[in-house]
Amino acid sequence: MSVLSIFKRKGLSGFGYGSTAEDITGDIDLKGQTILVTGTSSGLGLETVRVLARRGAKIIATGRTADTVRAACSSFSPTLISLACELSDPASVRACVATVKKSGEPLNALICNAGIMALPTLQQACGYELQFFTNHIGHFMLVTGLLDRLSENGRVVLVSSDAHRAAPKNGIEFDNLSGARSYRPWAMYAQSKLANLLFARELARRLKSKKQTANAIHPGVIKTNLGRSMNPVIQFALAVAEPLVLKTVAQGAATQCYVGVHPGASGVSGEYFADCNVAEGSPISRDASLASRLWEESERIAMAV
Ligand SMILES: NC(=O)c1ccc[n+]([C@@H]2O[C@H](COP(=O)([O-])OP(=O)(O)OC[C@H]3O[C@@H](n4cnc5c(N)ncnc54)[C@H](OP(=O)(O)O)[C@@H]3O)[C@@H](O)[C@H]2O)c1
Repeated sequence: MSVLSIFKRKGLSGFGYGSTAEDITGDIDLKGQTILVTGTSSGLGLETVRVLARRGAKIIATGRTADTVRAACSSFSPTLISLACELSDPASVRACVATVKKSGEPLNALICNAGIMALPTLQQACGYELQFFTNHIGHFMLVTGLLDRLSENGRVVLVSSDAHRAAPKNGIEFDNLSGARSYRPWAMYAQSKLANLLFARELARRLKSKKQTANAIHPGVIKTNLGRSMNPVIQFALAVAEPLVLKTVAQGAATQCYVGVHPGASGVSGEYFADCNVAEGSPISRDASLASRLWEESERIAMAV
């Protein structure tokens, strides 16, 4: 099979590797829908907001500060709401939840997109390793805080990564969530992305309405600010190889848009998607008892911080 045919191949959904967020949403009218997206100041979150706003959705765009979100997104729609949701700061996440709740309107989709990757040295929030806290705990607090605002057929999308396959042997190192016992930048990123997947599966099991869904996705590999902590040599190699081996940002935002709004994903829950189609996660990402244990631990952390 040629490389070109992989780029052009489409799956059961009718979309594939080369589909863009614009392709996915081309025929969809999102007027009357409210969609919250995290991490919207750059990369895939920014493109997701741009395209979903273009299709008529009312967007609640969140980021570390309302100002950075406003600077990046406000030109996309006059109805766009910019909110601070600094995921490593529980007070900021709680304030965001309270503001969204006050508005009283139902949320049709929550797209948990924000993330950080492979920080070279150990950093922590509230005593927990920063990637685990930002990528998983912050989103856990946001989503569980807003569940009673999720519409009857609302969708939760966790932007994970195929990197979840490189998580530690037992999946989640419950005895090393601070990262202090041993810190490995990529393994800790992978652990946080596995946590996104496990969270989606356990949430899917717990959702009250049969029409509500929770899924995790892998967007592909795309050159964005996510790689800012990477070794400069690797960054250079990726820049050279980019047109051959990486998706564009427009393609990278496609899967989260598909799972967030496309009728083809309606009623599909507890799954992992890649290239806009259901895909298979790692065996440990399907471990129901691990997912349940992570939920309980996350609840405990969310109450304590
Ligand atoms: N790019 C890829 O190849 C790739 C592959 C697999 C998975 N992903 C996933 O895709 C998602 C989007 O990443 P991207 O590639 O678009 O990277 P990006 O351009 O770096 O975007 C990440 C976004 O998350 C925000 N963010 C980071 N820390 C935050 C925090 N503590 N609180 C709130 N927002 C925070 C960033 O805001 P600031 O700019 O203000 O820091 C930015 O808006 C991530 O979850 C990532 O793990 C990406």
